Amino acid sequence: MITDTKWTSLGSIDNFPLHLGTCVKVGDTQIAVFHLPTEGKWYAVQNLNPINERMVLSRGMVGDENGVPYVACPLHKHHFALETGMCLNDPTYTIQTFPIKEEGGELIIAA
Ligand code: FES
Repeated sequence: MITDTKWTSLGSIDNFPLHLGTCVKVGDTQIAVFHLPTEGKWYAVQNLNPINERMVLSRGMVGDENGVPYVACPLHKHHFALETGMCLNDPTYTIQTFPIKEEGGELIIAA
């Protein structure tokens, strides 16, 4: 079965700060967007921290743990891998990740 991916524009990449998270809303879903310019990569994950169900991940600091880029929850500092969504401190928790890419200076997301 072939499924069509629905891409949604998030506007100009200039609206997104380097290294820091930005919260966007696509439909009813809050998504945390991160741009790691040293890797030349964009990441998008759910903004909801599954541990205490707070919308906080876009405010987390990004880092690297053994080559795995992560966002640290600003509350209790659990690390979530930006590629896979797995919690690096407790693999029983995962967060949803979303395909995201830049095209012609515009950021687009499949969510
Ligand atoms: S609430 Fe996010 S790590 Fe505890």
